[in-house]
Amino acid sequence: MDKFLIEGGKCLSGEVRVSGAKNAALPIIAAALLVRGPLEISNMPALHDVNTMLKLIACMGVDVKETGDMQVTIDSSAINSYKAPYELVKTMRASILVLGPLLAHFGEAEVSLPGGCAIGSRPVDLHIRGLEAMGATIVVEEGYIRAKIDGRLKGAKIFFDTVTVTGTENILMAATLAEGQTIIENAAKEPEVTDLAECLIAMGADIQGAGTDTITINGVSELQAASHSVIPDRIETGTFLVAAAMSGGCVTTRATRPDIQEAVLQKLIEAGAEIETGDDWIKLDMKGKQPKAVNITTAPYPAFPTDMQAQFAAMNCVAQGVSHIKETIFENRFMHMQEMIRMGGKILIDGNTATIEGSTELKGAPVMATDLRASASLVMLALVVTGETLIDRIYHIDRGYENIEEKFQQIGGKITRISATN
Ligand code: UD1
Repeated sequence: MDKFLIEGGKCLSGEVRVSGAKNAALPIIAAALLVRGPLEISNMPALHDVNTMLKLIACMGVDVKETGDMQVTIDSSAINSYKAPYELVKTMRASILVLGPLLAHFGEAEVSLPGGCAIGSRPVDLHIRGLEAMGATIVVEEGYIRAKIDGRLKGAKIFFDTVTVTGTENILMAATLAEGQTIIENAAKEPEVTDLAECLIAMGADIQGAGTDTITINGVSELQAASHSVIPDRIETGTFLVAAAMSGGCVTTRATRPDIQEAVLQKLIEAGAEIETGDDWIKLDMKGKQPKAVNITTAPYPAFPTDMQAQFAAMNCVAQGVSHIKETIFENRFMHMQEMIRMGGKILIDGNTATIEGSTELKGAPVMATDLRASASLVMLALVVTGETLIDRIYHIDRGYENIEEKFQQIGGKITRISATN
């Protein structure tokens, strides 16, 4: 297994180009299953999770071609299987996103039930109930969700009692080809949902209200070939900005979108950072200061994202003052904190709240990455504290960050990948 060796104590400065958003690319790849004809997707990030999704649809007979730099073209005309096997689904829960499109377009789908995962139980009951409300017959047996529909799905009114991002996306995709109108209430408002909706609209779908909590979809009988460019990754953007703030440095993120970053930018300003933005860039200047600790409560968009919680925990470990971090989305998303404690972090966990006392005494230590964003937070902490840190199990980070070590090296981070083969 690859590891990162990091020499800390560096001030980060310079520019980073942000990649396309993983959480937008994954549903958009699944959306290609809704049309027999090419969907050309650009600004695709080169990530393990994206490769897994492409592999998943390729194993159904779908044609996947790299047609340019950061661009793939997907054509599902030759599809010959509607099954998402356990071997692939177990490595990436977002595989569940093929369920809605397969069922809506081909009338059947067999998708392995995603198992438990490091950050909590993460059920998919809302996806299943939504599709059932649209007329699908679904059984869960032998570890698989087996879904069928005679003819077309029927439009329905679907209320989610918990805001679910991939749940909203699954129903949104399914509803584009359903008969009649579907209304999704308490829909996820995440920018990645809006990006998916824009791609579907480019394919000929009739969708109103994406980005609000009520999305209305009037089903059409078929969708057409289209091109779409994936939005920039707001979590990757935030990760580099927070790392810069922790180091007292000055970093500009390019090819990004400040307008979908409000909650994170506000917290960085509260931490003492100077922020400047343009249409597609964000500059953070800490002017050599130590950040001030900030309180965080995670919640669905536009509130503070759970996917940035670990990074702010890392910042609060080296900040001035005491902070409270409350995680309201996932029940077991503090595992990075045990590793931060190994590096000298002063953290007390009580249920879903962590109290962190900032300190300048942290030191590098051997640590273990436990999930995607947790891994990023350990890299960030390791880059700024004194001494050396060896991070094991970094395969988690490759799932969702493109060339993270190269990007950190570009802004002055001392980070080296030690390959398992070395
Ligand atoms: C997506 C993101 C992930 C992010 C999360 C929350 C993708 C590929 N992943 O994950 O990076 O951390 O949103 O912003 O976009 N729930 C249920 N039943 C369901 C579905 C969800 O109870 O059927 C619960 C979950 O357990 C969780 C909450 O709803 O407590 C939100 O989860 P959800 O938004 O569905 O997360 P994902 O879509 O899996």
